[in-house]
Amino acid sequence: MRIDPWSSAQYENYSRLREKFGIKEFGLNEWGNLPDVPHLFRRGIVFGHRDFNRIKRAIEKKEPWALLTGLMPSGRMHLGHKMVIDQIIYYQSIGADIFIAVADIEAYATRGYSLKEAEKMAVEEYITNYIALGLKPCRIYFQSKNPDVKDLGYILGKKTNWSEVTAIYGFNGSTNMAHVLSPLIQCGDILHVQMEKYGGARPTLVPVGVDQDPHIRFSRGIANAHRLFNVTVAKDGRIGIFVKPDEDVSRLLDIAEEVAGEFNFGIKRMDRYKAIYLDGAEEDDIDKIDIELARREQEEGAHGFVAPSSTYHRFMTGITGGKMSSSKPESAIFLTDTPEEAKKKIMSAKTGGAVSLEEQRKYGGKPDECVVYELFLYHLIKDDKELDEIYRKCKSGEQMCGMCKKRAAELMELFLKQLNEKREDAKEKLKDYLSL
Ligand code: TRP
Ligand code: SF4
Repeated sequence: MRIDPWSSAQYENYSRLREKFGIKEFGLNEWGNLPDVPHLFRRGIVFGHRDFNRIKRAIEKKEPWALLTGLMPSGRMHLGHKMVIDQIIYYQSIGADIFIAVADIEAYATRGYSLKEAEKMAVEEYITNYIALGLKPCRIYFQSKNPDVKDLGYILGKKTNWSEVTAIYGFNGSTNMAHVLSPLIQCGDILHVQMEKYGGARPTLVPVGVDQDPHIRFSRGIANAHRLFNVTVAKDGRIGIFVKPDEDVSRLLDIAEEVAGEFNFGIKRMDRYKAIYLDGAEEDDIDKIDIELARREQEEGAHGFVAPSSTYHRFMTGITGGKMSSSKPESAIFLTDTPEEAKKKIMSAKTGGAVSLEEQRKYGGKPDECVVYELFLYHLIKDDKELDEIYRKCKSGEQMCGMCKKRAAELMELFLKQLNEKREDAKEKLKDYLSL
C-alpha cells in the first residue's frame, strides 16, 4: 500500500493507515488540556498525528512553535478544503506563528496550470475565503516567489536520492523533473520556517489531509538526516546526546557538553561512544535539549531543524458518495455556491436512510453512513448535545431524512450567505495578507 499525494484516491480506512504508516491516534491524551478545543478534535475528524506532543508541550509551556501548511490551487474551494483552515484559525487564536505556502510550482508541475493561473485561483478563491472564514494576517507566500524555500529544498536534496523518492512516491522514468522536484520544494516549505531569519529552530506543526503523509515522512527523514546530534534514550535507559559518527566528534561533544551544562544535568562524556550521557534527564526533557541542539547546529552553519510534527484530518465524503472533489462539481459544496445550488445538492445527497419511511420508522437510519450527518458533524453544528440528539433520533427512527436534509440546507444557507458577505470585505483586506 502506497499513498499517492497526487491521485484522487480516497484513503479512508483510518485505523489501517495509522497501523501501516506508524501514525498515532489523535485523542484526549494529545489535545486534552488545550484551551477551547475545536469540534474537529472532539469528534475524531483529526484522527492521527506524528509527534504532536512536541507542539502540545510548546503550547503548554508558552514556548515558540510554528505552524505551516500549504494549499495547491486547483479549481474552486469546497467544504473539504475548509477543515484545514478551521484548524489554522484555532491555532492562530491560541498564538501560533502561522505560515501558508501557496503551492503554485506544484500546481504547475503536477496539474498543468500556469503560474499566473495558479496565482489567480489562490488569491481569488482560497485566500479570499480563508480571510472570510476568519484567518487573521499571517505569512502567506508563493513557492515561485520565495527563493529561501527553493534554495533550501535544493540544498536539503543532498541527503536523499532517487531510490528513496521512487520508493515513497512511485516516480518512474517518465515522471517530469518539475514533478520529481516538487517534494523537495515542499520540504523547503515545511523546514524553512526554522531558518534563523524566520524564527529559528522550533517545533513546527503541519496539519494536512492524510494524502500528504508521504511528504511529511520525507521531510522528517531529511530533517533528521541533516542533524549533527541525536538526543535519545540509550539502551541502559539513560538519556544521551549522540554525535553523528562522520563528523568532528570531539568538537561536537564539546558543544553538547556545553548545552547539557545549560540545563544543569550531570554530564558523563564518553568519547568512545561518541556520546554525552545526562544524569538526571528524563524523557520529557528530550524535546528542549533537542531544540537547543538544533539551534547550535545552525550556529555551526549546519541545517539543524527539529523534525516537523503533523496532524491528519479525514476527508469529506462527496454529496454523491465517493470523494468530495472540485473536478466533480456535483460531489462538492463549494464555498461560492449559492444557497439554492447548495440546497439542491443537499436534497439529492446520499443518506443513511432506509428504503422506505416505514422501514426507517421501524429500524432507524444509519447516521454513520450519511453524508447529511457528515455535514452537521464537520461543519454545520458546533454544539455537541445538539449533534448527539440528531444521531439518537436518526438511529431510533424518530427522524426522517426529508426533514433532516431541510435542516441541513437551512444551516448551509445561513453559512453561505454570511460567508458571501464576509468575502466582500475580505477582498478589501487581501493586501494586508499578501504583503507580509
Ligand atoms: N502538496 C500540498 C497539496 O497538494 C500543498 C503543499 C505545498 C503543502 N507545500 C506544503 C502542504 C507544505 C503542507 C505543507 O495540497
Ligand atoms: Fe442521515 Fe438524517 Fe436520514 Fe439519519 S435521518 S440517515 S442523519 S439524513
